[in-house]
Amino acid sequence: MAKIQTAQLNLAPNVIDFGAGQPSLHLLPLELLREAAVNRLGNDDTAYLAYGAMPGDGFFRQKLAEFLSEHYQMRVDFSDLFVTGGASQGLDLICTLFSRPGDTIFVEEPSYFLALRIFDDHGLNIVSLPMDDQGLIVEAVEHKLSQHTPAFLYTIPTFHNPSSVTLSAKRRHRLVQLSRRHNFPIVADEVYHLLNFSAAPPPPLASYIESSPVISLGSFSKIMAPGLRLGWIQAEAAILARFCECGLVDSGGGLNHFTSGVMRSAIELGLLEKQLTKLKSVYRKRKITLSNALRELLPDAVRFVEPEGGFFIWLEFADNIDTVKMLAAARQHNVGFLPGIKFSSQNGLSNCARLSFAYFDVPELEEGVRRLAEVVREYPE
Ligand SMILES: Cc1ncc(COP(=O)(O)O)c(C=O)c1O
Repeated sequence: MAKIQTAQLNLAPNVIDFGAGQPSLHLLPLELLREAAVNRLGNDDTAYLAYGAMPGDGFFRQKLAEFLSEHYQMRVDFSDLFVTGGASQGLDLICTLFSRPGDTIFVEEPSYFLALRIFDDHGLNIVSLPMDDQGLIVEAVEHKLSQHTPAFLYTIPTFHNPSSVTLSAKRRHRLVQLSRRHNFPIVADEVYHLLNFSAAPPPPLASYIESSPVISLGSFSKIMAPGLRLGWIQAEAAILARFCECGLVDSGGGLNHFTSGVMRSAIELGLLEKQLTKLKSVYRKRKITLSNALRELLPDAVRFVEPEGGFFIWLEFADNIDTVKMLAAARQHNVGFLPGIKFSSQNGLSNCARLSFAYFDVPELEEGVRRLAEVVREYPE
């Protein structure tokens, strides 16, 4: 008989799978959401049980705009926000509204592997763009623009998944200039922007919406709980109108309406702020633990950049190492990771691996690296 499951992830006990790129169950804020839900349901307001306003509830968007204004350190106008069922759903809707099967889009190499799956669902043709330690290489975008006209460019500018790098302020500026000049939308997946461990990153690409065709994606998955399926799109009025007027919203009303009401209370009661502060402190500690253990136990030839935010560490092994084969060996040691090839639209990056520090606590991270080090030691040169 098939096992009945509630959560997507189903890890065997004693396996430390660094591939799990989501928060530990015990980090998910049950008490806090109970308080927010009781507050919302105590308001005797049946409007949250009706079909929602097309861009999403105005009161929720106002609260979200206040929250973002403070954390982005810029003015966010609630009328520039459209509520989604999470960044994945927002991205799927962008593909529906801004591309047709067979269109070309520009995507970073590496990129978020599940975004690649969404692009595949829409029959899009991917042209990949190289990155370095300052993020996307903008000259390469310029070069590709002489050969292709993209329906849009998809980027993860801050605390990238999987590489954890952040696009420099200078490159952000040049990238949006290009989008204006060549008139292609930039889809900026900014879901990790608020999860910085030290200094704030450069302003989000959302800060360019007034002057450029930028569509910024945000999500409560990374700062509250992925099961809420709640996020937002930030864009200028003419772009936003396309989301508000689409068939999906016309038929079903504003997306994830009731949950946005609960989140409105969570913001009003200061609970989102509280959770974000807690998460940053927990993830920062875990990131330090994982980085130190990797430096101590893995050979120097394995390269990585210590992240300044987000969920991930991206390992680069010597060119001759195949991390798909290494993963098979790792499974024997009850440890796992995601092989680099998953993040490539070109079947490349086979010597890389993504580790996440979002799921496991400090002692498990240390034990996981001990197991990984044995795998690396035993792996044939
Ligand atoms: C870059 C990126 N975009 C989107 C998502 C998915 O976000 P959501 O849960 O809001 O759909 C993730 C989650 O791993 C991610 O890393």
